[in-house]
Amino acid sequence: MSVLSGKNILIGVTAGIAAYKTAHLVRLLIKAGAHVQVIMTPASKDFVTPLTLSTLSKNPVYSAFFDKENENELWNNHVDLGLWADFFIVAPATANTIAKMAHGQSDNLLLATYLSAKCKVYFAPAMDLDMYKHPATKETIATLESYGNLCVPAESGELASGLVGEGRMAEPENIVSFIEKDVLSQLPLRNKKVLITAGPTYEAIDPVRFIGNHSSGKMGFELAKRAAALGASVTLISGMSNEKVTHTLIHRINVMSAQEMYDAAHQFFKDSHIVILSAAVADYAPKNVSDKKIKKKEVAFSIQLEKTKDILMSLGAIKQQQFLVGFALETDNEIENAIGKLRRKNLDLIVLNSLQDKGAGFQNTTNKVSIIDKSENISEFGLKSKALVAEDIFNEILERIYE
Ligand code: CTP
Repeated sequence: MSVLSGKNILIGVTAGIAAYKTAHLVRLLIKAGAHVQVIMTPASKDFVTPLTLSTLSKNPVYSAFFDKENENELWNNHVDLGLWADFFIVAPATANTIAKMAHGQSDNLLLATYLSAKCKVYFAPAMDLDMYKHPATKETIATLESYGNLCVPAESGELASGLVGEGRMAEPENIVSFIEKDVLSQLPLRNKKVLITAGPTYEAIDPVRFIGNHSSGKMGFELAKRAAALGASVTLISGMSNEKVTHTLIHRINVMSAQEMYDAAHQFFKDSHIVILSAAVADYAPKNVSDKKIKKKEVAFSIQLEKTKDILMSLGAIKQQQFLVGFALETDNEIENAIGKLRRKNLDLIVLNSLQDKGAGFQNTTNKVSIIDKSENISEFGLKSKALVAEDIFNEILERIYE
């Protein structure tokens, strides 16, 4: 999954022959999961039709402050468009438009939106080689960069004039990867490794039976998605779960038993920066696993169980630079028990689910948690989706690792 997934992206199209490539850029951004809206300068409509761009972006295309032919048409609000956008990409960016952007002119909707936008702005220049080389253009680009805008450098090749050189708009694929790299480089968990356990463990009784629990894995998967969205490279060790992940930054390892989860967690722990154990690990497993299916017995039947290894406790014991987070599921004396667990297992944070709260815990899509740190600061949160709980948990972690 791209870091641009779910982002609001505004594309500004100006009057360069490369405008035909913007149709492909819109397609790539939609494929990456972004929401796209397009603003065109009036002259750019000679190079690519608004219909093409509105069809690809699945949104109306804006070009004028209002539509003169339709009296009932609302004023196209450049402030709203500017505020809607997470990113504004001007592609192609002609010499004329970038010069106007650099000097605060606003004689069309695109320029007025540029001046209103608070988001990161990228521009992909497209012009003839002598125009691109001209000191005035170089100064314009430097001025825009001094505002925090980022230039996606023009590429070399044959130009519309027939000349060969630098000035061609970067290929749409390269614009997307340039922006993805830049967005990633700004994320708080870039270069950080996050290890997460999720789901239940199944402890075999014989080849067809096991002891398990109802954990769905949802909380752990939401944590993994959040960590990846923050730029981390994530190892997600999961017991049996129907949850799916597609993010390229998430590496999923499937395990079955507590012992397999223990081995995998220890394999990745050393290099991890943040470790969150949300799995519902079986506390006991059959002492002897029959290699043949056990036949029915006459009346009663018992299985001898032995304790599994406590993965969280074992990691707490060898913890160095890692920020270690555990979960606790309690029914009574919740806070006291959770703090006891935090101390015993040498954790940095513990996330407490109270079974007394409706909508919290196993199988639900929602959760209600309190988060307690080593100094016994307690943050309480309301009932919300597990995706939002994952955001709260990472906000608490970020506050502490970057304090
Ligand atoms: N945990 C683990 N390995 C185990 C058991 C639990 O890593 N064998 C982790 C869980 O992933 C969770 C935390 O430890 O982060 C839960 O602690 P645990 O002591 O099992 O508490 P509860 O399951 O909440 O209940 P109990 O009160 O029975 O201890």
